Amino acid sequence: MVNWLAFSPNPSIVLAVTEPEAPGPLSVLLRTVQVPTAIVDSQRVLANLTRMQTKAAESGARLRPHFKTHNSVQVGELLRRRGVSSITVSSIPMAIRFAAAGWTDIVIGFPLNIRTLDELAALSQVITLGVTVDCPPALASLVERTDIECHVWIEIDTGYGRTGVPSDDDEAVLALAAQVSSAAHLTLAGLATHAGQSYAASSLAELREVHMTTAAAVLRLRDTLSQRGFGSVAIAIGDTPSCSAIDSFAEVDEVRAGNFLYFDQQQLELGVCTAGDLALVIACPVVDVYPRRGQIVLHGGAVHLSKDQSRSGAFGLIAASDGFSWRVLDESVARVSSVSQEHGVITAEPAVFRGLRVGDVALVVPAHACLAANALGEPLLLEPDHPNSEELAS
Ligand SMILES: Cc1ncc(COP(=O)(O)O)c(C=O)c1O
Repeated sequence: MVNWLAFSPNPSIVLAVTEPEAPGPLSVLLRTVQVPTAIVDSQRVLANLTRMQTKAAESGARLRPHFKTHNSVQVGELLRRRGVSSITVSSIPMAIRFAAAGWTDIVIGFPLNIRTLDELAALSQVITLGVTVDCPPALASLVERTDIECHVWIEIDTGYGRTGVPSDDDEAVLALAAQVSSAAHLTLAGLATHAGQSYAASSLAELREVHMTTAAAVLRLRDTLSQRGFGSVAIAIGDTPSCSAIDSFAEVDEVRAGNFLYFDQQQLELGVCTAGDLALVIACPVVDVYPRRGQIVLHGGAVHLSKDQSRSGAFGLIAASDGFSWRVLDESVARVSSVSQEHGVITAEPAVFRGLRVGDVALVVPAHACLAANALGEPLLLEPDHPNSEELAS
């Protein structure tokens, strides 16, 4: 018998549902859950994709979604069926995995790791490969390897302060461009930036400002390159907060956001998605209930949800299921308040204690989707045409 949280018509009350035969494709999936398991609502993913795809298409920009968020061959297939053909990944193993799954246009959006040149050479034989560089020594190794034919993106730091050439260092950018152009097997593709500082923004207006300053910085560098004879190279940007907050990608050529396919508590806090867009939950078995403490303990800790926190300090929100999909509960009703390696602790209102028992499955919307999805591997896909729905209907 499997129980799960369901929403009553009165949204302040959470009820327990104990119906082994409860209808709905989500109920079917939840019956199979034994350990923390990622569940992805394919309809929500596709709705999230369509919004970003439409905005990119209307702006004349290519959408090259970052696959590190889902890192799932199945989710990749959903996207491929909707016309996605170019992707970004964050590591060589991820590039190899998606190349094996038939993706032929892959950019590795992580600074070149020169210990992996043999793997890059092999990849460059079978796919159109893009690599990211931001320093002369790494690029020098690539220049020497004439067996690695690839497109080279110069990473620009527009304020995040992680990697990339600082956007005011024109000479460093020009030197890297010249180094790329000196090698016949390398093509200078463009300038790429990830404005990760957007995650600290406190309003949609601030997110739009992050986008404007980011775009202005890379466009200025493109002009500099053009004036120095490097032609008009492409511009790639990509962070979910600012890409979701703006209306147009008119100034850029490529969009590499990834989190927007799932969204999460952080994006909800930033105001760039609605609760109905949240496409990923982690189904976590309830292992202990402590009503006097106001807490419920899940099998679902840092190795499943990650240590990422929302601004409010939560490790995730709790969602209620109606058997078909989920609806997130207000944080004041229930939240994952702490995690250790395998344990996740929900702090919740008394109504939740009446609703959850040992052996139930709680649905957690992670604070940040990327690490959680990555930690859990291939998700269960919730599809409206789930093969078991007919069985349910009969
Ligand atoms: C280089 C790079 N590009 C794109 C992305 C995608 O950004 P987001 O996860 O905000 O969609 C990331 C995410 O970390 C990144 O590191």
